[in-house]
Parts: sequence; C-alpha cells; structure tokens
Amino acid sequence: MSDTPLLSARDLQVRFGGVLAVNKVSFDVGRGEVFTIIGPNGAGKTTVFNLISRIYTPTAGTIDFEGHRLSEVPPYRVAELGIARTFQNIELFEYATVLQNMLIGHHVHRKTGFWSELLFTPAARRAECEAREEAEKVIDFLGLQHHRDSLVAGLPYGVRKVVELARALCTRPKLLLLDEPSSGLNVEETDDMAFWIQDIKHDLGITVLMVEHDMTLVSRVSDRVLAMAQGEPLAIGTPREVQSDPRVIEAYLGAVEDMSFLRRAEPFDRKRA
Ligand SMILES: Nc1ncnc2c1ncn2[C@@H]1O[C@H](COP(=O)(O)OP(=O)(O)OP(=O)(O)O)[C@@H](O)[C@H]1O
Ligand SMILES: [Mg+2]
Repeated sequence: MSDTPLLSARDLQVRFGGVLAVNKVSFDVGRGEVFTIIGPNGAGKTTVFNLISRIYTPTAGTIDFEGHRLSEVPPYRVAELGIARTFQNIELFEYATVLQNMLIGHHVHRKTGFWSELLFTPAARRAECEAREEAEKVIDFLGLQHHRDSLVAGLPYGVRKVVELARALCTRPKLLLLDEPSSGLNVEETDDMAFWIQDIKHDLGITVLMVEHDMTLVSRVSDRVLAMAQGEPLAIGTPREVQSDPRVIEAYLGAVEDMSFLRRAEPFDRKRA
C-alpha cells in the first residue's frame, strides 16, 4: 500500500432539509485496501457513496481522489476518473442481456466521437472489439459464461448481483464502491461474494470501498472499517477494533433490527477450499 491515499474525505457534511444525513465524516482509503463502512439503518452510509459518485454535493467538506477535488468534478466524469459502483437496489437494464449491460459499463472509456461511432470507422470498430474483449475477461473472471446472452430480467437475484459487479468492473475502475454486496444473498452466494471481493483486491489490484451489514463478511475481507451512526463517525480501525468499540456496540444496541451484528461478530477464519 503506498502512502498517499487513493481517496481522502474530510469533514463531510450533507444536510437534507432539517436532517444532517452525514456530519463530520473524515476517512482515507489507501491504495489496495478493502475499506468498509458499517452502521445501523439510516447511518448515512449510502449518502457517503452518493457524495463520492457525485449524486449529491456536500454542504461542507471535501473529497479528493488522485489529485482531483471530486466536488468540482461534474458527475459524468467520475467514472472516467476510475470510480465505479454498484447500488443497494440493483440497477441494471432488465431487458438487455448480461453482455449488453456490461458493454454499457465499458462505454465510459470510449474516446471515439459521435460521427466515428455512427459511421463505424476503424477506430470505432477497434474500440468495440476492445470493449468486447474486456467484457469477456470479466465474464471469465466472475464465472458468468453461462449467463452471457441471458436477459437480466430472467436471472435469479444472486446472479444479478454478480452482473452488477461485472458491469462495474468493465469500466476498469481504480476504486470500486460496493453498496451492500451481500444483501439478499444466501449463505453460499455470500461466500462467493467474499471470494470475488478478495480476488478483485489481490488479482485485479482494485481498491474497494464497501458498505455492508453482514459482519462475518466484513471481518473476512476488510482491512479497515469505519462505523457510523446517525450521520456521524463512531470509530475507525481494524474490524476487530471497531466491533469491540463500546460506542459501536451501543449504537447497534439502540437499533433493535440490527442485533444480528452482535450475534455474527465472531471473526471469520474459514479458508478457501
Ligand atoms: N435524498 C434524500 N432526501 C432526504 N433525506 C435523505 C435523502 N437521502 C438520504 N436521506 C436521509 O439521510 C439519512 C441517511 O440515509 P442513508 O441512505 O445514507 O442511510 P444508510 O446508512 O445507507 O442506511 P441503510 O443501512 O438503511 O441503507 C436517512 O435519515 C435518510 O432518510
Ligand atoms: Mg444504504
């Protein structure tokens, strides 16, 4: 991990009317790490993602990504800079195939202009071939060969989650934002997701910023964790440090629906078979 962080958030604040959805949040994401944000429902986790992907603009604070001040970057340029994301509620084109959804992901890097695309010039043909090659690599990487030409609408939920991950990887990101990658997945699918995340980090060298509720998954894949509650940061450190922090435990005790956090807090030490 190099010393300069890939992403640096400082004193972030977002206000929606009277609600401070995010307040005084600062953190750095180092190159090559898996950094996870945890916290009870409504803590402000997705809002932090929406600030990074420029869906929202902070009312105060800054986010720097590789020398770019993100709050000054127009939203459409975020993907070009190398930031990709998945959504808490999967967002895919239902009536397009898996491959078509992935090629849409790749389009952010197309340098060919309108006319060369329209006339399908050699440059446009080359770009199309490169996009397909890249998509095929991601299909192999995530084991999606069997679903390549299936319509997304007919796929089980667990496969759609992988397709969304595939689409994000097709943009060749430096930073991948995953909003609750295991939500709605069964135990086996969650296990697979943990392996994908580890492989994305180790084999593809992509830095991962994740929001996740499943503490077994969090402990297994995260290098560092930020815990938030009611928009504010509570603790930052290794998964073990954060899980045993009294402020974090108190925040979860206050959120009855999230008591699973405490039951599932044992460190995960199963090895890949
Ligand atoms: N566009 C918006 N307008 C008004 N309030 C919003 C908006 N987006 C988020 N909020 C509020 O900000 C707070 C934080 O929401 P956020 O979605 O970031 O929480 P979260 O930590 O991702 O929760 P969950 O675990 O349920 O996904 C909540 O009180 C939410 O109602
Ligand atoms: Mg959320």
